[in-house]
Amino acid sequence: MVYDPLIPYNDLPELPPKKEIETIPVLKRVVSAGRALAELKGLGETLPDQNILVNSIILQEARTSSEIENIITTNDALFRALSASSQVGVDPATKEVLRYREALWTGFHDLKNRPVLSTNVFVHIVNTIKQDQAGIRTMPGTVIGNAATGETIYTPPDGEDVIRRKLHNLEEYIHAFDGPDPLVRMAVSHYQFEAIHPFADGNGRTGRIISILYLVQESLLDLPVLFLSRYIIKNKGEYYRLLRQVTEAHEWEPWILYMLEAVETTADYTRRRILDIRELITRTMDAVRNDLPKIYTKELVELLFKHPYTKVEFLVDAGIAQRQTAAAYLRDLEGMGVLKSTRIGRENFFLNVSLYDLLSRP
Ligand SMILES: Nc1ncnc2c1ncn2[C@@H]1O[C@H](COP(=O)(O)OP(=O)(O)O)[C@@H](O)[C@H]1O
Ligand SMILES: [Mg+2]
Repeated sequence: MVYDPLIPYNDLPELPPKKEIETIPVLKRVVSAGRALAELKGLGETLPDQNILVNSIILQEARTSSEIENIITTNDALFRALSASSQVGVDPATKEVLRYREALWTGFHDLKNRPVLSTNVFVHIVNTIKQDQAGIRTMPGTVIGNAATGETIYTPPDGEDVIRRKLHNLEEYIHAFDGPDPLVRMAVSHYQFEAIHPFADGNGRTGRIISILYLVQESLLDLPVLFLSRYIIKNKGEYYRLLRQVTEAHEWEPWILYMLEAVETTADYTRRRILDIRELITRTMDAVRNDLPKIYTKELVELLFKHPYTKVEFLVDAGIAQRQTAAAYLRDLEGMGVLKSTRIGRENFFLNVSLYDLLSRP
């Protein structure tokens, strides 16, 4: 049968791929990507407070993965929304990115409770992102098109039964005892998930969350910290082209190499990011201990790194000081140049200037 992008691809082949996919170039890349991930994993364990790194990396991943889908917000809008007492007035794109972050945690906790990636977990993730209960597509009409030209590039399989069967096959592939290396499986599974395209919307984002969770499931990461979308957005044309090439020509190797390269590059980048944050925390601790010995505690400085925007309540809630004293602490830290006060709506915030600069770096 000739493949036709305009007809629902109910003939999407089941996994595993018929071709030999663990070629020598693939296996070479598996080794180097695996090494980069192992270094990242080792580093995460050494951080004083895992929340600091987890929050900031996950937020960047959420922002960029959403940006691939043209849901665009700024770091500043996100940081503000995270620290604000109310979500009133937060723009829709920012809210959607915050839900993405929530969805990543949702999936991560699902895996902790029951360590298998399943259709239920996929649905739970997309429902969290979309904030609805739509779940698996039941209606025909979903297509992947070129936004610029209006041309239809791909029509995913149709019919809830067909979709569920293909998802079931994907689950079996993910969990098979005798399958290929986990990194190769991650690449193959990501293609397959996108080709099944089980939801009316949110497939790209859910698929990228699943890829990261899969690395956690396989113990290649402890926490879902990998800035994977950074590579994808920088090489977005290739991402689309190579997905398409698997469908149209069963060319798996370039797609798998692309995903392995994405893992390796972003594992290195994420690791460097973490080292930079860790160094900044240490430097800030030393400076505060030196300049403001009367107010210095480790907990106080760590708190300034939980969110780029801090406020009096955060100190009070953390049990660091009472309101008045907490306000005085923040002013002292501002006097020292660590924080900079700013008013947003009715609230007074203190921005951790160096952290903000670090996180804003490309
Ligand atoms: N030719 C293709 N074949 C299969 N999947 C594709 C193709 N082109 C793009 N995709 C995937 O579809 C995603 C977009 O689907 P969509 O449901 O709109 O996701 P989201 O709502 O997260 O935007 C892309 O991010 C990509 O992963
Ligand atoms: Mg979309």
